Amino acid sequence: MDLYHALTSRRTTQRFREGPIDEAALLRALGAARFAPNHKATWPWRFVLAGPETRQVIFAAGLRLKAEKRGFSPELEAAVRRDLLAPDRLVVVVQRLADDENRRTEDYAACSCVVYALLLALHAEGIGSKWGTGATLRDPTVLAALGVDATRERIVGFVWAGQPAVASEAPPRPPLAERLTVTA
Ligand SMILES: Cc1cc2nc3c(=O)[nH]c(=O)nc-3n(C[C@H](O)[C@H](O)[C@H](O)COP(=O)(O)O)c2cc1C
Repeated sequence: MDLYHALTSRRTTQRFREGPIDEAALLRALGAARFAPNHKATWPWRFVLAGPETRQVIFAAGLRLKAEKRGFSPELEAAVRRDLLAPDRLVVVVQRLADDENRRTEDYAACSCVVYALLLALHAEGIGSKWGTGATLRDPTVLAALGVDATRERIVGFVWAGQPAVASEAPPRPPLAERLTVTA
């Protein structure tokens, strides 16, 4: 896939349908994402591929957190089940936290580049994806299930990967001319 086409046609998949993705393609995409830029070669990221038991823990946490806010209903449970269990695979991108604040910021930028590279590579493989954040990825039960030590690491993103159920619309971007300043 041409790079410009990949950059402009990738969309966040908001709704996945159940069904497997090609494991070899997922591993190729993960391998390519490692080539993201990283100042000082700190390589601050690692990936966790969440297995079925871990996914159940994430589902339980996601449902609990949403039910605390909105109240439990069978509809809520079905929606959370769909969002958190329908995507075939979940890749968790984890940042190792440096002691130095500036290094942490640069490492977060590097991890974000890794996530975006992964989204683009999955797109090139014909796999739908979504970068997810939110309270679930800071929940202690989720961190424990993923083996993430919050004193030394943080989760930069959940990357959901699977078969898109519906095509997502691109939110309009501000025109380049609005955001481009050329100085003397
Ligand atoms: C740091 C970050 C966190 C995000 N977290 C979420 C999220 O929790 N839920 C979600 O639906 N999308 C999330 N997204 C995806 C954005 O909402 C999405 O990229 C945006 O709507 C633009 O759509 P597009 O990716 O199709 O261009 C996140 C994106 C970024 C960069």
